Amino acid sequence: MLWTVLLALLVILLLQTQLSVCLRELRSGGSSSSVYSPPSSSSSFYNATQQRLPGAIIIGVRKGGTRALLEMLNLHPDVEVAKAEVHYFNVEEHYRRGLAWYRAQMPFTVPGQLTVEKTPGYFAAPQVPARVSDMNPAVRLLLIVRDPAERLISDYTQVLHNRLTRHKPYKPLEELLLHKGHIDPGYKALQRSLYHQHLARWLEVFPREQIHVVDGDALIRDPFPELRKAERFLDLPPRINPSNFYYNTTKGFYCLLSAGHDKCLDESKGRPHAPLSGQALKKLCRYFRKPNKLFFEMVGRSFAWC
Ligand code: A3P
Repeated sequence: MLWTVLLALLVILLLQTQLSVCLRELRSGGSSSSVYSPPSSSSSFYNATQQRLPGAIIIGVRKGGTRALLEMLNLHPDVEVAKAEVHYFNVEEHYRRGLAWYRAQMPFTVPGQLTVEKTPGYFAAPQVPARVSDMNPAVRLLLIVRDPAERLISDYTQVLHNRLTRHKPYKPLEELLLHKGHIDPGYKALQRSLYHQHLARWLEVFPREQIHVVDGDALIRDPFPELRKAERFLDLPPRINPSNFYYNTTKGFYCLLSAGHDKCLDESKGRPHAPLSGQALKKLCRYFRKPNKLFFEMVGRSFAWC
């Protein structure tokens, strides 16, 4: 008798298991087998539109024309850019948040589109090259440079402007730049213009071919040729045209034209520079002569800097 009851219970248990498997099959439309079935077209659309890590980064230089370069690259249909500077690799608080946080700062893209971010603070920060390589050793790097003396004055002008806006005092440029009549090598804005020193650290980690140097002075004079070269470096089909740029006489710079919209960079770009005496400028140019030569050797080309 006991055996009959036990046998009946076993049969019921088996039938129940069989029934739940059938129900699961029915609910999933028969796709619970181990054979791969592609997702439906609507779910693949959502999977395709994602925030992706950058395939290219504009690493500097500060005041070199990084915003202009980013906005101009954004004219390309295969490029999406992070609008704000992310400062992931150079700010410890951000870096500690990890790659998921970094990715969350990026624009949404579809497969085949290139994500680009720019943070000029990366170039001169010693810890950054290795961190960028840890993320992706094949990432493409863009470095936009400009006459280092001009860059220094622009750098000073920006800090001066920020201090004045916050009603804080700030020393005149010559006071910061010169010590007892000589260039003060401790001045931070001067150090940021020593391109060869910073580039040397990047070249310890990345091959030269992975760093594309953009001529920031040429980008101001005539942006299109620099953009064409950048497209080539990024393996993008040529989509940016001379008609995407027009010279705005009020702004005194090129502005962008795309799909009937025109856009100039904001007033923080291209503002009048703080004054510097001819004598101090001469000293500055002399000071940069050797560092510039070293930089030219590193990049294998020269620039008409002072
Ligand atoms: P100035 O303000 O000294 O003229 P960044 O974006 O890296 O801060 O660089 C700012 C510099 O971009 C500006 O420096 C300006 O000269 C340069 N620039 C290049 N092309 C520009 C453009 N089309 N419009 C405005 N500024 C441009």
